[in-house]
Amino acid sequence: MTPLQAATHADPYDYYARLRRNAGLLFDADLGLWIASCARTVEAVLAHPDCCVRPLHEPVPAAIAQRVAGQVFARLMRMNEGVAHRCPRAVMEPALAALDAQRIALDVEQLSAGVNNLDAWMFTLPVSVVARLLGLPDEQLQIVAGLTRDFVACLSPLSNEAQLRNADAGASQLRQMFSGVLEQTVLLSSIRAGDWKDAEVMSANLIGLLSQTCEATAGLIGNSLVLLARRPDLVERVKREPTLAIALVQEVARFDSPVQNTRRFVARRCTIGRWVLEAGDTVLVLLASANRDSDAHSQPDSFVLERPQRRLFSFGLGRHQCPGQTLALTIAAQAIVQLLRRQPAVLEHACQQGYWPSLNGRIPRFNAAPVSS
Ligand code: HEM
Repeated sequence: MTPLQAATHADPYDYYARLRRNAGLLFDADLGLWIASCARTVEAVLAHPDCCVRPLHEPVPAAIAQRVAGQVFARLMRMNEGVAHRCPRAVMEPALAALDAQRIALDVEQLSAGVNNLDAWMFTLPVSVVARLLGLPDEQLQIVAGLTRDFVACLSPLSNEAQLRNADAGASQLRQMFSGVLEQTVLLSSIRAGDWKDAEVMSANLIGLLSQTCEATAGLIGNSLVLLARRPDLVERVKREPTLAIALVQEVARFDSPVQNTRRFVARRCTIGRWVLEAGDTVLVLLASANRDSDAHSQPDSFVLERPQRRLFSFGLGRHQCPGQTLALTIAAQAIVQLLRRQPAVLEHACQQGYWPSLNGRIPRFNAAPVSS
């Protein structure tokens, strides 16, 4: 196994434990990557000012640099450092933090009627909730979810030419849809009132909210379903006490993270622990391994529903730490509550068939056939 294959391996956690025992940071000559596997090194890399989200020589991947998708990518806070990161973040972070959990729960309830295909539901529901919070009309939510998935494909090095063309079309159409939004939701008005360099930066980061939501939250819901399918005792507990769903998805995020790794690119020679990294080096940061480090948690390999002082690496740390964490956990918890309340049989019939191909996301794939309630 390699650290990249681990993301979609049936059980990567023994392998991660071996990496941690070997060294907190090691150089994988075959992959040409440093691998950070321990809680301490993961934290140090993510906190380091010279470990950046993009390589200095390639702020936008060459495959999309000349395309519409590349214009959006270039403006995303996720893909920038310095002012181009801080300014959008200063608007988006407080706007997301101010969201009302009850409103989100209501949106999830209204949008989860009649689940007949788990894969489609996992991918569509979270994006639809966020699109609705951003004022996009209900009749466009399915389309928005499809366009977002098309755009997200351009973020993966695994995507082919046809996917890149679709990503361009997705980015253009989403931009157009946002420019036509009339309803001023609470979230959209606080974002629009923010201090933006120009309208292009704002619209790119609105697309960024949808694209960041899409796969990671699908994975969080999916990995929660995988866990529940193995633990009927937890199904019963959450059915009896739905407020436990939030603890369930938090522990799933720790135990089986939907985002297994992220990358940092070294801008200047720097030191992490006892290792010296050179400008131009790349670090693969194993968030999912740090979650299982005994320095961060007692009984790290056990699923402990009500875990005191859970330290989550799954949402990143430091200046790029996910600003959508609470929103994502709320959507996933409510999705599970709704499924167990309305269509518990869907879970019984769910049959997992591995994971969607990815180098960093862990998103289970379920039976393609419609499932009955
Ligand atoms: C409603 C759903 C979500 C939204 C709106 C959202 C939004 C974002 C945004 C805008 C960023 C970029 C922040 C920055 O660069 O300053 C980000 C980063 C991140 N998000 Fe989320 N996110 C969501 C769900 C998730 C989920 C479910 C996970 C995984 C459990 C996740 C994991 C991460 C990670 C690891 C980063 C940091 C990546 C890095 O530092 O390299 N996100 N998110």
